[in-house]
Formats: sequence, structure tokens, C-alpha cells
Amino acid sequence: MKILYSIEECISWRKSALGSVGFVPTMGALHQGHLSLVKIAKKNCDYTIVSIFINPTQFSESEDFSSYPSMLDKDIKILKEELIDAVFIPSENEIYNKKSDDYFYETPLSNKLEGITRPHFFKGVTMVVYKLFNIVNPTHVVFGEKDAQQLIIIKQMIKHNKSSITLISGKTIRNKHGLAHSSRNAYLSVKEQKEASKIFQSLMLIKRLLDGGEQNSQLLKNEFVKSIESIAAFKLDYISIADIETLDEISKIHKKKTLVSTAVFFKEVRLIDNFIY
Ligand code: PAJ
Repeated sequence: MKILYSIEECISWRKSALGSVGFVPTMGALHQGHLSLVKIAKKNCDYTIVSIFINPTQFSESEDFSSYPSMLDKDIKILKEELIDAVFIPSENEIYNKKSDDYFYETPLSNKLEGITRPHFFKGVTMVVYKLFNIVNPTHVVFGEKDAQQLIIIKQMIKHNKSSITLISGKTIRNKHGLAHSSRNAYLSVKEQKEASKIFQSLMLIKRLLDGGEQNSQLLKNEFVKSIESIAAFKLDYISIADIETLDEISKIHKKKTLVSTAVFFKEVRLIDNFIY
């Protein structure tokens, strides 16, 4: 596995990769969720490359950029075992050298759901993803459904830019209690992680009601809120039942695909999860 630190090294590696190239961008602290995407890339492409870059522009000043889990040696070891071809680990300087003309993708979708609490977030995400796409020049990219809104916005950005990149999505991978794997779970003890799985269980409560024919969004949301409120350490940021295309809230569930998504603070740790119905 090649370890590439500079843009130059990455571009030169790419030139030598003749065939399809699957790219998995990450912020590291790798877990089973990330590795499931790596496996998808390996299965679909001749070459697989992962990037590890904790992107400062997607964090606001009050967020956890400086404490975001970083375990580079462990990540490299894990990726070597996955037998991938290359890992790109650029420095902040390498990615952001002339701040003035940085492209980012603007869409009304960025102001909804996650964008309400994190108005800076998708500007930063699309900025770094666009840069990484240009450097790595992949034929395929793999993103997780865990970050459903990110996936939808990146898909739209690729289409908007008439890029030939194929986007593949990967299902959310969970631990045995149902908690979605996340680098931020590292902030929680084992006991807290078990408690945090109540978020997924509360989402599944909505799913059961939907399966039973319930169509009233407000009622579904109320049941979710009650379930979340039963854990004292939780503070609900949002529960959304939205059209998967427009991300607009819907009041009555119909046959179209619906995104049920939530963000919950467990003490200071912000956890997100969703399911598509
Ligand atoms: P990060 O949180 O490290 O996630 C990298 C990729 O892993 C994303 O596509 C995310 O959706 C996926 N992922 C995370 N948890 C998952 C899980 N439990 N199951 C399946 N996939 C999962 O998302 C980012 O980094 C950044 O915003 C990035 C795109 C790298 C831009 O900085």
C-alpha cells in the first residue's frame, strides 16, 4: 500500500493506476462503517484509494475540530490489512494553500436538516470533497448512507459539474446494539454507547408505526421525542421526516421515498442516524 502525503505524489500514483479507481474519502479514526465502503470500492474497481483528512472547514469554532479522534498509525495498519492500493494523507497546508478562490457547491439542500444547526457544514464538505476529487481523479467514489444528506448533496454536486464519476452508496453499519458506527463514538464509554443505541431503537419505533400504516408525521415524531426523552443524557437536536429529493418536511407519508433522520446530543457528543422508507 502506497502512503501518499503530497498532492504531487497522489497525482503521480493516479497516473500509474491504469483502470478504474475507487475512492473513499474519510476523516480517519476508521471503523467498520468506513471499512464496508472500502470493501465496496475494492469489489467494484481495479484500484482502491482512501483519504484521511480531518477537514477544518466543515467544523465551526465551537465544534470538536481540535479534539476530533485521530489515530493515524492504527488507521494505516487497518488499511494495509484491507490490501488497498493507496492512502492519501494530506496536510492542511497541502489542501488549503490559497484560501481566496476555493470552490464549494451551493444548494438549498445545504440549509436543511444538518444545515440548520451546522450552517457552515456543507460548504466545508463540498469544498474539500471537490478538491479531493480533482486530486485523486477517481472513476468511482463511495459514500455512506449514515450521512444521508451529505450523500445526496455530493450526488447532486457530481451531476451539477457534469462529472463522469460514479457514486456508489454503502449501507449504515451498526454495532450489535444497533448504534451506527461513528468516529465520534470514541468519545463515549461502552456503557454510554449501549445507551446511545436508543437513538436507533427510537428510529425503529417510527419504522414499526410506518409498517403498521401510520401516515401522520407529527404523531410519528411525537413518539420518537417521547422515546428519546426517556434517556436523561439525551438532548434532541432534530427529528425530520422529509422528502428524500427536496429534504422538505412532509406531513403525511405517501408512497414516495422518505428520509427519516435525526441528530441527538448525548451529553456533548452529537450523533446522527437515519433510515430510508
Ligand atoms: P467520515 O465521518 O470519516 O466518514 C467517511 C465516510 O464513511 C462517509 O461517506 C460516511 O457516510 C461513511 N460512514 C460513516 N459511518 C458509517 C457507518 N456506520 N456505516 C457506513 N458508512 C459510514 O463523512 C466524512 O468523513 C467527511 O464529511 C468527508 C466526506 C470525508 C469530507 O471531509
